[in-house]
Amino acid sequence: MGRVYKTFATVCASGLTALVLSHARAQKFEGVAETPPMGWNSWNHYGCDIDEDLIKQTADAIAQSGLRDAGYTYVNIDDCWHGERDEDGFIQADPERFPSGIKALADYVHERGLKIGLYSDAGRTTCGGKPGSQGHEYQDAKQYARWGIDYLKYDWCATGTGEDQRNPREAYALMRDALHAAGRPIVFSICEWGDNKPWEWGEDVGHLWRTTGDIINCWDCEVGHGNWFSSGILPILDKQAGLRAYAGPGHWNDPDMMEVGNLPALGENRAHFVMWAMLAAPLIIGTDVVNMDPKILEILTNEGVIAIDQDPLGIQGFPIMKSPDLEYWVKPLEGGDFAFAVLNRSDEQKRYAYDWAAHPVGDNANGWNADTANIRYTVSDLLRGRDVGTTETPLTGAVPAHDVVVFRMKKNG
Ligand code: GLA
Repeated sequence: MGRVYKTFATVCASGLTALVLSHARAQKFEGVAETPPMGWNSWNHYGCDIDEDLIKQTADAIAQSGLRDAGYTYVNIDDCWHGERDEDGFIQADPERFPSGIKALADYVHERGLKIGLYSDAGRTTCGGKPGSQGHEYQDAKQYARWGIDYLKYDWCATGTGEDQRNPREAYALMRDALHAAGRPIVFSICEWGDNKPWEWGEDVGHLWRTTGDIINCWDCEVGHGNWFSSGILPILDKQAGLRAYAGPGHWNDPDMMEVGNLPALGENRAHFVMWAMLAAPLIIGTDVVNMDPKILEILTNEGVIAIDQDPLGIQGFPIMKSPDLEYWVKPLEGGDFAFAVLNRSDEQKRYAYDWAAHPVGDNANGWNADTANIRYTVSDLLRGRDVGTTETPLTGAVPAHDVVVFRMKKNG
C-alpha cells in the first residue's frame, strides 16, 4: 500500500514538475530586441501592392545604400503576402505575387546580411481580408520557423466584437507560446493599436506593442475611416504621454512605423525621425527605399540620432518644458550623457532658449539628475554634426516651422 502511495506521490510530483516546466517554457525569446528594432516595412508606402520583386529590390537597396550598415536590419512584409492554406492547413504565400515562395525570399534577404519579417493576425482574417492565424497558431509559427522568419507583426482585426471578442492577452500569449515552441528566435510585435493597454501586459508577451491606431503621413491631422481613424505625427506623439515607464530593453512602446520620406516637408521628416529616436521607438522605415531622396537617406542614417534611439539604457525620453509652440525633450543616455531636442510644432520659425541654471534637468523616474550646476557638458549638434558650446551658457537658437533641433550633451567632452 505504501509503495502504491509513494508511486502515486511520485506521479503527482512529476506531473507538478511538468506543469511548472510547461509554464516556465511559456515565454518570449530573450535577447532579440535589447534595443528598439530597426528595419523597413511594406505597409505605409505600398499597402497590399507588394510582390517578391519589390521585397528583393528593397533588400538590395537597404544593403547597398548604407541603411543596413546604419542598423536597419529587418525587411518586414506586411499584410497581403498570403495565399490559401494547403490541404493540411499550412499557410502558403500568394502564388502569383510570391511565386518563389517565402523560404526562397528569406534566403535572398539573409544572403544580404538582413533579416526578414512577416505579418499575421490574431483573428480569422487579417485587416486586408487574408487568412488570419486564429486556430492555426502552432501551425503558422512552425511554418514561419521553417521558412526562416525573424520577426512577426501580429495584428488584431477580425477578433470579434463585444463579449465575443478574443481576450487580447490570451490571444497574444498563445502566439508567443507557439513561436517559442517552434524554436526559432523571433521578434514578436504586438499590434492591437493600444486599445487594451498592451503596455500593462506586453512585457511578458512580446518585444514591442503598438500604442495607437495607424499612423498617416501628415504633420497634425486625424483622418477618419468609418469606425477607426489614423493620426499624423503630432497626435501620435501626444498619445505617448504617460507610457515611458513601461518601456525598456526587450520591451518597447511602438508609436507605429515611420512616415519619414512620406511627409511633404523635409523638416517634418526630420522632426518625426528625431522624435521617434527621443521616444526610443522602433525605427521601421515605411517609405520607398529603392528611389529614395538622398536628403531622406541622410536623415535616416544620422549616426548621432540613431545612437540616441539605440542607447543601451533604453530609457524613453520625455518633454521637460513646453510652451504653446515649442517642446523641450530630454532622454538620459549611457555614460551620464543626455539627449536634448527642441520641437517646433507651429507653422512659423521660433527662437528657443533653455537656461540650465534656471531649469535643472533630471529624470526622477530613473533617479538621474544632470547637475548642470556642477558638471559642464559639451553640446554636440547632431544635425549639423559638430560641437557648438557647453552647458555653461544657455542654449539658444532658432528652429524652423515643423522642425527640430537635437543635441547630445556629452559629460566627458
Ligand atoms: C492594421 C495595422 C497596420 C497594417 C494594416 C494591414 O491597420 O495597424 O499597421 O498592418 O492593418 O492591413
